[in-house]
Amino acid sequence: MKTFSRILATAAAAMMVAAPAMGAGYYDKPEQHAWSFDGPFGEYDRQAVQRGFQVYQQVCAACHGLKYVAFRHLGQPGGPFETVVIDGVEQSFDNPNDNPVVASIAAEYFISDIDDIGDTIERAGRPSDMFPYPFANEAQARAANGGAYPPDLSVIVRARHYGANYIRSLLMGYDREPPADLDIRPGSYYNPYMPGRIIAMPPQLMDGMIEYADGTEATVEQMATDLTHFLAWTSDPHMEQRKRMGLMVMIYLFGLAILLYASYRKIWSKVKH
Ligand code: HEC
Repeated sequence: MKTFSRILATAAAAMMVAAPAMGAGYYDKPEQHAWSFDGPFGEYDRQAVQRGFQVYQQVCAACHGLKYVAFRHLGQPGGPFETVVIDGVEQSFDNPNDNPVVASIAAEYFISDIDDIGDTIERAGRPSDMFPYPFANEAQARAANGGAYPPDLSVIVRARHYGANYIRSLLMGYDREPPADLDIRPGSYYNPYMPGRIIAMPPQLMDGMIEYADGTEATVEQMATDLTHFLAWTSDPHMEQRKRMGLMVMIYLFGLAILLYASYRKIWSKVKH
């Protein structure tokens, strides 16, 4: 019995020592947002994805890559530029490489490549290129960001607990007053949604910092929501096709169940049982 209480006392002491360390992982639960892509019939809002792409290009692309996204993905079925308006006519293209909006977005980027005689060159982007990484490598990225590494954003919505709600809250979460007991060093910022509540990324969004192509007012909340919508699409670009296929499969299985039940009745109707 004595040994048992000694074990208990040791365990309690160990927990008291560990408690502050566990507190370091503390963070606030993100705000729930009603996303158009939630639920079994949810779809992306093309306008929101387009606006979010604009914020990514003008703000986040300076530090964050999208290494799994090619320009042509923007024009594929389900993508933000699947249908484009050219000279007032709405058009879509079987091959996203033929989409002029996608081609002009790609052409704004410089891509390093090797030419016919083996020299390294910089050329204009093509729809088949992936989004270029803003730094030469991880070491340069860390050197430019005070030692912190800006992660690739292609699948970040899938890679983080609470997904889209987390990313949206994180981007909007820089305006809170930090608690007095938190030691925030220069080069890091208080953000209650980041695990540990301290983040090395400076606040990125400010009201009115960009002018949306469609005239929407660019508030911090609007930009955070649009940007997250865009990153939800990059994380899962085939979601709409998958949900549609799932629905067809359910309808098919329902029909098959009725058919099987009817044949069971027919086959067994002459058998005494
Ligand atoms: C000046 C460079 C810079 C810019 C611009 C920037 N970030 Fe970051 N970002 C960082 C750094 C550095 C980190 C790593 C932070 C850390 O580990 O504490 C980071 C981390 C993140 C994370 C990951 C947080 C986590 O859970 O690990 C997300 C999401 C993110 N940034 C989104 C964005 C978005 C969206 C934009 C555009 C609105 C943006 N960032 C613009 C530097 C930047």
